[in-house]
Amino acid sequence: MTARTAFALLAIGTALTTVVPCAAQTSDPDARAAAVEQRMTDAERTTLTHGIMAIPYGDTPIPPSAPPGAGYVAGIPRLDIPALTETDASLGVSYVGGLRKDGATALPSGLAMGATWNPALLRQGGAMIAGEAQAKGFNVLLAGGINLVRDPRGGRNFEYLGEDPLHSGLLGGAAVAGIQSRHVIATVKHFAINAVETGRQFHDAVIAEPALRMSDLLAFQIAIERGDPGSVMCAYNRVNGSSACGNDALLNGVLKRDWGYKGFVMSDWGAVHGLDFALKGLDQQSGAQLDDKLYFGAELAAAARRDPRFKARLTDINRRILRSMFAVGVDTHPPVIAPIDFAANAQVAQQVAEQGIVLLRNRGVLPLAAKAQRIAVIGGYADSGVLSGGGSSQVQGVGGPAVAIPTIGGPFAALLAQSYHRSAPLAAIKARAPKADVVFRNGRYIADAVVAARQADVAIVFATQWMTEGLDAPDLSLPGGQDALIAAVAQANPNTIVVLETGSQVLMPWLDKTAAVVEAWYPGARGGEAIAAILFGDVNPSGRLPVTFPASTDQLPRPKLPGSDTVEPDFLGKGKPGQTLRIDYDVEGADVGYRWFAKWQATPLFPFGFGLSYTTFSHGPLTIVPGPTPLARFTVTNTGKRDGADVGQVYLTGTPSGATTRLVGFSKVQLKAGETQTVEMPIDPRLLADWKDGKWTMTAGTYRLALGSSATQLDTPVDVAMPMHRW
Ligand code: BGC
Repeated sequence: MTARTAFALLAIGTALTTVVPCAAQTSDPDARAAAVEQRMTDAERTTLTHGIMAIPYGDTPIPPSAPPGAGYVAGIPRLDIPALTETDASLGVSYVGGLRKDGATALPSGLAMGATWNPALLRQGGAMIAGEAQAKGFNVLLAGGINLVRDPRGGRNFEYLGEDPLHSGLLGGAAVAGIQSRHVIATVKHFAINAVETGRQFHDAVIAEPALRMSDLLAFQIAIERGDPGSVMCAYNRVNGSSACGNDALLNGVLKRDWGYKGFVMSDWGAVHGLDFALKGLDQQSGAQLDDKLYFGAELAAAARRDPRFKARLTDINRRILRSMFAVGVDTHPPVIAPIDFAANAQVAQQVAEQGIVLLRNRGVLPLAAKAQRIAVIGGYADSGVLSGGGSSQVQGVGGPAVAIPTIGGPFAALLAQSYHRSAPLAAIKARAPKADVVFRNGRYIADAVVAARQADVAIVFATQWMTEGLDAPDLSLPGGQDALIAAVAQANPNTIVVLETGSQVLMPWLDKTAAVVEAWYPGARGGEAIAAILFGDVNPSGRLPVTFPASTDQLPRPKLPGSDTVEPDFLGKGKPGQTLRIDYDVEGADVGYRWFAKWQATPLFPFGFGLSYTTFSHGPLTIVPGPTPLARFTVTNTGKRDGADVGQVYLTGTPSGATTRLVGFSKVQLKAGETQTVEMPIDPRLLADWKDGKWTMTAGTYRLALGSSATQLDTPVDVAMPMHRW
């Protein structure tokens, strides 16, 4: 260092000390962000505002320090600001088609996680995948899928947690908190109403504000309050006419003004359509190769020079991004490439799978008796592994998939292969029944499967429904003739057990003929072992449905999937120039899922919150202690002979305005045989209120609440008088 530079540095240091005393040393992330932002040169001010995909795509050079992954935002070494190294997603560190040539631990799908109803476990899962992200060089996990499941055909339902705002918010917030506990920034996504994939880059989700506030936005709001994510990712689709990433009402209005959100909004990849998105509340243009051009680079800098509104935004944007980096500690706890304890992490994935598997039907065949001598295992690649969902969230274990069935060619071929994790249910079943004669049939020929089923004591059919980002399911059947296969096998053997590995809800035309049905979702890295543990009773099933299973698509708010006959199925979903698709969510408004069914008194195939156990539970009376945050209290008793876990669910069933059904609280309780526990839970008053004229509003009068074991199995309700309240 020359004397002159040494002097210059000293001068800068002195000047800084004078201007913002001690700010750089303070642990207050806002003060630190402001101090660092003030030191930025104009050229540095658009460094953090845009990123690229850190994978070969077009001719954009990838910096050698960027680990192959979803995104990379350059840092500012002069100011000790690290680069943001970003990887997908909520189920673990994604595989990016094998570019990194490494594997990661796959958590079960979002709906499996939702079916655990266990925020503490999801927090553990979040910490586990964030630990792997850090060990692979990432400090941002694009994880926190919060969108509500509004349509069972939605291609990304498997990345989301369920259909209820409280449930998704609490579980998603816990996962986010777990991720950030490892100093990795999480991003809740996709803000908002990205409920289906058809025409995902142009469809317009139309919904009135009160309904939006009480449904999808409430899920995000609760998740943000609980998890304090460093980032929010705006969605591809339009919301009420404006692109979600350039949506002033959503980003500036709801998120930043009303909720006081202090983090930054990153775009979805390829979702930025103009420089003015910066004024509408977007803070960072992600994966810029996928956009028409880089708006948030030189163009943003030039706009800031000539227009004070952009200048102010640029200051705000930098402070927000820096604030999240400091608050989460990505600068103080940088990623360190390190070996991963896959065996330990697999335990976490298995526990989530075991708690998320839902026993839907059991005519006494489960748990499987040790005396079953001949077991026929049929279909679903059960000899090789368990299914996973496609798209950017795809995780692969070490060694890659056990089976990968291509669905398309081109640049996204690897993302859209139907992939099975290396956790074969067949092997796990054989391990638990070493004396039994276990045979496998792939299920491609029904006649062959029927012969095997006839010769067995028990037939276990594995049925799969692959879903992926970018494409919705055209209907709710099990594809490839599996419904006919199950019907024929069940006809041949009364002890037929169906294990479903589905992305979301399916119809079950064969249900009455079966002895048992187990919904295993996409059960992740140790799915085969988890399924076997449930089948043989090593683990008592405790999963509860996070979504309503309809008895037919006619029961849905939109029996026909909007755009299914006009929009060409396409992963990117950009459509033809000028193509539009309006999706009218005002049909159901805030009455999503079970609330829609309750409103129309329609009987679902299986209700939200439903799930069987190998033991039995009884619930004590519900008491409500009134107050600004009412308290629900009740007891749960395990009345059976096995230890097990129950999920106590409290629903609002009536308000002064009339009947309703809303989940207002839940708690998963682990109980030994014969044990009783008292559960107490505060009730968030927003769940009792309606959004009216810009405020949460409770009218004075009687509120009716009931304890239930699902949205349709409710005990005698209790009435509570509440005063008028608006906030
Ligand atoms: C998805 C996001 C994902 C991003 C980066 C997009 O296609 O919608 O969820 O995080 O890609 O891979």
